[in-house]
Amino acid sequence: MAQFRLTVNSRERVVDTDPERPLLEVLREDFKLTGSKYGCGEGQCRACTVIMDERPIVTCVTPVRSANGRNILTIEGLAGVDSLHSVQEAFLQEGAIQCGYCTPGMILRTVALLRERPKPTEEQIVEALNGNLCRCCGYAAILAAVRKAAGARQTSDSKSAE
Ligand code: FES
Ligand code: FES
Repeated sequence: MAQFRLTVNSRERVVDTDPERPLLEVLREDFKLTGSKYGCGEGQCRACTVIMDERPIVTCVTPVRSANGRNILTIEGLAGVDSLHSVQEAFLQEGAIQCGYCTPGMILRTVALLRERPKPTEEQIVEALNGNLCRCCGYAAILAAVRKAAGARQTSDSKSAE
């Protein structure tokens, strides 16, 4: 057992646990943040994606010791007090959510992509989302949502440059 301090969705959290325990388990069971989903448990589906210090990571294969002192953003921390994040809005508008199991991972992967590349090419979008599996096969709508979110960002960028 050891003690770890993490900042999760801007809130400091402390946990005493086995250093090798998956971060996903700590988020879901200790912090009750169940938006990150358990899919394969082997780093293959990305349902468990969160953003750690600006990079998307899969939490099912990330030991909690690796998150010590880091900033974690989960899907619960994305929306504003009274408004959704623009990527969440785009997913809603495009009907990109079926059962919703893959959705937190898809959205956080998109947020990370747009932070790194505000104007991604089609190739960069596909490359970024390529490893995120959707068992409902909603890929067409999901890609449309990512394009819409990227476009909305580009429009607001060009407006602010005027
Ligand atoms: S549950 Fe983590 S990658 Fe599948
Ligand atoms: S919406 Fe069901 S897994 Fe993607």
